[in-house]
This record gives sequence, structure tokens and C-alpha cells, in this order.
Amino acid sequence: MALVVILTGAGISAESGIPTFRDQNGLWENHDVGEVATPKGWMENPKLVWRFYQERRRGMQGVEPNAAHRALVDLEKKLLNNGHGFYLITQNIDGLDIKAGIQYIVEMHGALRRFRCEKCDYEVENDYLEDDLLPCPECGWVHLRPDVVWFDEMPHNPEIFLSAVNQCTHFVSIGTSGEVYPAAHFIHDALRDGKEVYYQNTDPIHAHLLGMEIHEFQGKASEKVPELCSNILKSLGISEKEELITDNDAS
Ligand code: OAD
Repeated sequence: MALVVILTGAGISAESGIPTFRDQNGLWENHDVGEVATPKGWMENPKLVWRFYQERRRGMQGVEPNAAHRALVDLEKKLLNNGHGFYLITQNIDGLDIKAGIQYIVEMHGALRRFRCEKCDYEVENDYLEDDLLPCPECGWVHLRPDVVWFDEMPHNPEIFLSAVNQCTHFVSIGTSGEVYPAAHFIHDALRDGKEVYYQNTDPIHAHLLGMEIHEFQGKASEKVPELCSNILKSLGISEKEELITDNDAS
């Protein structure tokens, strides 16, 4: 049985119209990370941080998954139908994978669609898009925070993503600069452990990965991820034309 584990970064959503972080005109070129994406920034100026994330929530309106997200959904279904395993680990907070229909996913940097309280366990998913801070309706704490992971904070669900990376047979990196740990380490772990490794990015593979046994798919995610997925399916002997059993068929 194969276990295919995918790590995605902002590059997979770029063609849906969401800015990446470190490309030209990326979010970190236009904002100070320390001010808007750290616990210290939040403590010093919650209104500024809140406005930054509310702006990003508003920016998600009408945004749809692209062909790369859809290819991963198709890959997941075909792998599961054939008795294999699949896990998507995403650094993205845009929720586009879930919108596209992915089932096995860990959003390691949290999710833009959710707020949570730092004082009690309250969390909520809603469509609130205003710039005014919201108090916690459960315990009355002055403000909810975006349920996203900031620098100097622990990513969500480490037990799930570490075990997925450990146990996988195939590891795939898509649209990430590999600048942020722990995610940046996964590809090295996979190479060390002799997994089949795939790399997708518009940029050529990092110099420090040159010469390693990696299947490289350079180009736009919307074009190259479907190709990469076909490649994995073929290598496992799964027909691409296979009819999928959907929920609708069952009813
Ligand atoms: P980055 O902005 O660092 O990297 C985006 C990557 O996507 C780059 O390597 C680009 O070359 C590539 N890329 C751009 N357009 C693409 C396309 N159409 N198809 C394929 N690849 C494309 O974003 P991440 O690697 O996701 O964390 O950044 C990791 C983390 O750093 C984020 O989750 C965020 C950020 O700070 C936090 O905020 C905690």
C-alpha cells in the first residue's frame, strides 16, 4: 500500500488570485511580518493585526480553487478507491483545498475562516468581515483572534503531520519556498528515508536539492500538478480513466 503525502504552500493558490508571501509584490513585501504575524504584534496592536486578517478574509470572497486543487482531490479519491492512503498537509490558510473537496487534510498554519478565543476553548467559523474586533461570546474576553499560526507559535496538529511524513511512501512538495520550519524540513526527511520525492514550483529546484533523486515538475501549479498526479497514479498502476464512485451514485 502506498501513502502519498502532499505539502502545499501559497504557490498552489496563486492562480486562484491569492498573493504569495515572498514573490514580487508578495504579502511580506508589503507588510511587516513582526507587526502583523507574531504574538508580540497582536499584543501590541490587536486592531492592526485584526484589520490585516479581515482584509485577507474579504480578499477570499469569490475566490475558487483552481485546476491544481482539483487534481489533488481527484488523486485522493483514486488512491483511496484503490486501497492506498493520502494526506494533504497545507501551510495555506485559505481553505481552498477543503472547498475543492479534499477529505484528509491538516491545515498546519490554521484557517482564515475561523476565529478563536485565547482565554477559553471557544472557536467559530463565520462570515464576519468587519474591521471591529469581536469579544468572546462565551467567556467575555475582550477579543477573539484569527485562528492562524503566527511566527513563534507551534503549528497545528504536529502529531498528524509528523506521522504522515514519517510513514509516507511518496512525498510531494507543491508551491512552497521552503523558508518556514517545520514544513521546510519534510522534503529532507523524505529524501533521507528513501521515499519517492516530487517537487512542483514555478522556480527551479533549490540549489541544495540539486543532484537528489527528485521528480521535478517546474511550471505553474494549475498545469503541472495534474501532470504530477497522473505520474503518481501511473506509477501505482491506477488507471486515470477509472470511474469514481461519488456520494451521488450511492443515493
Ligand atoms: P512563499 O510565498 O514563501 O512561497 C511561494 C512559492 O510558490 C514560491 O517558491 C514560488 O516560486 C511558488 N509559486 C508562485 N506561483 C506559483 C504557481 N503559480 N505555481 C507553482 N508555484 C508557484 O509561500 P509559502 O512557502 O507557502 O506562514 O510560505 C510558507 C509560510 O510562510 C506561510 O504559510 C506563511 C508564510 O509566512 C505564516 O504566516 C506562519
